[in-house]
Amino acid sequence: MLFNDNLKIFSGSSNASLASAVCSYLEIPLGGSKIDRFPDGEKAIRVEDDVRGRDCFVIQSTCIPVDEHLMELLIYLDCLRRASARRITAVIPYFGYARQDRKDEGRVPITAKLVANLITTAGADRVLAIDLHAAQLQGFFDIPVDHLTGELVLSKYFRDKKIGNLTVVSPDVGNMKLASRYASRLGGELAIVHKKRKSGREVEAQEIIGEVKGRNILMCDDIIATAGTVCSAAKLVKERGAGKIYVGATHGVLAGEALERIAEAPIDEVAVTDTIPLTDETKAKGTLNIKVLTVSVMLGEAIKRIHRDQSVSSLFNHF
Ligand code: R5P
Repeated sequence: MLFNDNLKIFSGSSNASLASAVCSYLEIPLGGSKIDRFPDGEKAIRVEDDVRGRDCFVIQSTCIPVDEHLMELLIYLDCLRRASARRITAVIPYFGYARQDRKDEGRVPITAKLVANLITTAGADRVLAIDLHAAQLQGFFDIPVDHLTGELVLSKYFRDKKIGNLTVVSPDVGNMKLASRYASRLGGELAIVHKKRKSGREVEAQEIIGEVKGRNILMCDDIIATAGTVCSAAKLVKERGAGKIYVGATHGVLAGEALERIAEAPIDEVAVTDTIPLTDETKAKGTLNIKVLTVSVMLGEAIKRIHRDQSVSSLFNHF
């Protein structure tokens, strides 16, 4: 037994299998809780373990259905706070609402900040998150944030594939730094696609800076939502003579027509992580060329280090 009863991990309903995998890695049982509903649809959560004075972690991604999972997380935090937990960490493998992070036109909200405030007010003392879309989102929380990245797991997967003649492509200008980190981890050239977003669902890849002709491509992004960005970029690099096309992204939101788009695009394989589980509906639609990698070991190791007041950043050298 690595831990005494002082460390408690609870799971919301969004990532039950990831939470179990984290607990298996840490060799502790998942904390007992019951999630119920009142007849009008309100959620009722009851933590069944004694948490007084304990170091508690709640694992919950605010993925589809976003508002429901967010509310569940807030209720969990409130519940643990009122049950006198000593410290509460909100473990948010995927943080929904992150992309509305600035007021770039009149009369729009900054939901990333609103949600950060809600999480803090509900009772979180710390946050452990993975690829928050923009690193500066850490500053939206006035509590400590440990920020992990799926790059570690994804780049290991692609390194093991030993892809020759590799060019790492950023499917938009915003992901340039990410792509350049992949290129230095994996060794390869770098190219960037200029994209124009026409709406939340429609994007158009317009031009490429860099050489893709005759090269195998790894395209990397933090999120695949409607898959418009990666599919449109994949079509463009294929038209320009690319060989195999791989895509790696931390969060497979896979909303709307994402699966149909991926199936039709000239993409050989997409790798995402289990920060968001594939739903049964998604699996039923067919996910043949989608590989899901687990972040459970990385998360488990980070939880262990937070619990023991050890460095989390040094964890990056272990993957
Ligand atoms: C954009 O800033 C992000 O990094 C992703 O490229 C984008 O959110 C992906 O969205 P979609 O899959 O809907 O194109």
